Formats: sequence, C-alpha cells, structure tokens
Amino acid sequence: MRKPIIAGNWKMFKTVSEATAFFADVKGKAEVDGVEAVICAPYTTLPALVEAAKGTTIAIGAQNLHFEDNGAFTGEISGVMLKDLGVKYVIIGHSERRAYFAESDEIVNKKVHAAFKHGLTPIVCVGEKLEEREAEQTKDVCKVQTEAAFQGISAAQAVEVVIAYEPIWAIGTGKSSTSADAEDVIAYIRSVVAGLYDAATAEAVRIQYGGSVKPNNVAEYLGQPNIDGALVGGASLEAASFIELARGAK
Ligand code: G3P
Repeated sequence: MRKPIIAGNWKMFKTVSEATAFFADVKGKAEVDGVEAVICAPYTTLPALVEAAKGTTIAIGAQNLHFEDNGAFTGEISGVMLKDLGVKYVIIGHSERRAYFAESDEIVNKKVHAAFKHGLTPIVCVGEKLEEREAEQTKDVCKVQTEAAFQGISAAQAVEVVIAYEPIWAIGTGKSSTSADAEDVIAYIRSVVAGLYDAATAEAVRIQYGGSVKPNNVAEYLGQPNIDGALVGGASLEAASFIELARGAK
C-alpha cells in the first residue's frame, strides 16, 4: 500500500518569519493519519522549519541541490549541507529548473545520485510542455525523462523515489490536467518504471500529480488508482489551504 504524499513546493516565497508562522498554523492540523505531508521550502527557511517540525509528522524538503558535495560552485547548496540540516526530501528536475537553469536529464540524474548518496529522498519531476502535448508526445517525453532520472539507480533506491508528473502547461495557470488524463500518464510512467526494474518496484514507487492542484480537486486526483499524491505550488502557500490539501488526501 503506497502512502499518499502531499508536498508543498513554496518556490521562491516566504521569509523565515513567514515560514515559522505558517508552520505554527499547520502543526497538528496538517498531520493526518495515513498521509505524509511535506513542505519544500527555500534554503534560507530550512533550519527554522526543520527545528519547528521536530516531534511532528511533517517532513521538510529542499527544492534543489548541487550534485557535487562541495567545491567552487558559487551560490550552490549540496546534499551534504542539506543532510546536515536534517532535511528529508529534495525536489529534483522541476520544470522551472529545467527551463530557467538549464537542467538537463543528465544533471537531473546526477542530482538523484547525489540525493541518495546523502540519504535524501528525491522527488523527481517529469512532464511535457504544451507543444509536446499538442504533438501527442506526452508519454514519450515522460518516458525519456523518467528513464534518464533513474539511470544507475538500484531497485532498492528506486522504490524510495517519489515521481511528480507535472504537465508544464498546468503549472500555476489554473489549467489542470483532468484526473483521467493525469491517471493515464501516471499509469504509463509506472509502466516505464516496471520496464526499468520489475512490477513490484513499479508498484512501490509513489507518483504524484502536480499542476494547479487545489483543496477542491485534490481528492479527485488522489481517488485515481495510480495517483499517490500531489506536488502543490500556489495552494500550498496558505496554511488553511495546506491543511485542507493534507486532509483531502486521506
Ligand atoms: O511543483 C508544484 C508546481 O509546479 C505546481 O504549481 O502553483 O500549479 O500548484 P501550482
């Protein structure tokens, strides 16, 4: 049985004081039996959030990491540093990183390896652009991105990976994929994982949907047999909405 996972991706929002105020508001309330709640926050807020999350069931994640442990990479943060903070999850290969920071499939794969090297759980994002969808390339794009991300990853590690299927045209646009379409692509991504490993590994991997998920549609996505959670941007920024998302995932 795969445990549903609701992860907020705050992107470049919230100061330390805003983050701690948010956490105080969701503590207890977004802790729902049988649902894993995760907050992926800006680096600057992580120490305070990790501290605030102690003794709760809410996990804290970063939104990126560098694939090297240390070195002359001005402005970058490594897995060593995140592990040292007590961070559990790290988002890898978000479409915004792919688009604005030139992250290739190869870099995404290196980052997945770096995450495992340091005991972090990767949330690996895959998904097609609007023109790829219109050209009926959605599944091909997801296959290529998934296979690349998992290259050299053992089956024992693969079962720990969380995949987030985020159709790029649905991010922050208010246009969400229908739950049936998302289910179709996510079932396909699961079959890609089965092809890389085996059916048991594919059955164990959790796959989220992301793209304009809101409290009023989260249950519909989670009701689909292959959708195990949601990666949520905008609607994860307000405490009340994050609580509803966690509750709606049950
Ligand atoms: O990673 C989550 C994200 O890209 C979706 O954003 O604002 O459409 O929920 P949003």
